[in-house]
Amino acid sequence: MELNRRSFLKKALAAGSLAAGTGSLLSACSGIRRSDLPDQTLSEHTLNQLDKLGNSILYYASLAPSGHNSQPWYVRVLSQNEWIIGVDPDRRLPAVDPGNREVMLSIGAFAENLSIAAGTFGLKAEMEVIASDPFEQDVIKVTLRKAKPVDYPLQRITRRMTVKHGYLSNEIKQEDIRALSEHLKERLFYFPRGTDHAACIEEGAIENFRIQVRRDDAQKELVQWVRLSNKEAERHRDGLTLEGMEIRGFKGWFVRNFINPEDFMKPSFRKQSVDQIAKFARQGGGWLVITGEGQTVLDLCDSGRRFERMALKARERNIAIQPMTQYLEEESGLKQIAAEHERRVVPHFVLRVGYLNTYPEPVSLRRPVSWFVRL
Ligand SMILES: Cc1cc2nc3c(=O)[nH]c(=O)nc-3n(C[C@H](O)[C@H](O)[C@H](O)COP(=O)(O)O)c2cc1C
Repeated sequence: MELNRRSFLKKALAAGSLAAGTGSLLSACSGIRRSDLPDQTLSEHTLNQLDKLGNSILYYASLAPSGHNSQPWYVRVLSQNEWIIGVDPDRRLPAVDPGNREVMLSIGAFAENLSIAAGTFGLKAEMEVIASDPFEQDVIKVTLRKAKPVDYPLQRITRRMTVKHGYLSNEIKQEDIRALSEHLKERLFYFPRGTDHAACIEEGAIENFRIQVRRDDAQKELVQWVRLSNKEAERHRDGLTLEGMEIRGFKGWFVRNFINPEDFMKPSFRKQSVDQIAKFARQGGGWLVITGEGQTVLDLCDSGRRFERMALKARERNIAIQPMTQYLEEESGLKQIAAEHERRVVPHFVLRVGYLNTYPEPVSLRRPVSWFVRL
């Protein structure tokens, strides 16, 4: 890597001016985190046509996970009680998700957060999947009706996160698997570390990551969603920040100041990311696989909702979860799964799982509600 003093100084100064511009919250030495940005529930983001309650519900919905944190959703407000959840075509990931499979899962997770949040505020969110193919833009019609408030801790939504580092190798306890399976009856499978199946998933996850990293189109797409500088991150409030990728401390500072998005295309960088993923894949208490009925919009949105229900319960049990999706994105992974399983087995998520000693706080950024609402 070439260290160019002038460009370093320019970048360091740029980072410094951002720090000054955003007050004492940000510093050139740390990456931007969710807590550095204004609270999205504050009224400054309330839209005139969407009441404060609607704004809050959509804020919670927006904390859903999504591939590359692309946040593929929009919400069309038809009236105060009728909304459409749709897919913004500019937020698709055509190189790794050409069939919009993962987009539908993410939309499902968004819908689940929406439904839970509405429930706590005394509104039942009736959901009707209106899209019949995954390329239709309008996907779910939501009708909000008055109901008895549901008791649900919304901190589960605000504190859920995808964790990458620090997985312990202990087997996940039966009682925890039972709790995680509550909304995934007969669809959640746990393969503890040390079993043949877990070893097979581990190797498949690494191998398919390696295959994907060699694909220029997938790598270019990734680069589009990487937010290296705090300034970029703050401007977009989506994508993969260094904090989100858990690249912190000196390494984070170095990457922020010396690495350009184009460096991701270099063979040395690709090799490093395979090594990193292999290290992750070999940590943890094994693998979870969520299967579904099929690959229709309904199947995928339903799975996304159930996955989110499960993910929301992980933190209080000290369990970390990381989707490792390349297995389901690469032809070789899909062929291997098809060859070794019955046809009716349709995996929707492959997830690394493990206990943590310390659970970090969420850092990934979200667009404010006003950025994805269409009136
Ligand atoms: C359908 C889907 C696929 C995902 N695939 C991956 C993946 O392959 N690797 C990974 O590290 N995270 C993956 N994620 C997690 C996202 O990167 C994460 O949700 C996003 O960056 C936001 O961070 P958060 O979950 O901490 O809020 C996936 C999430 C979803 C919903």
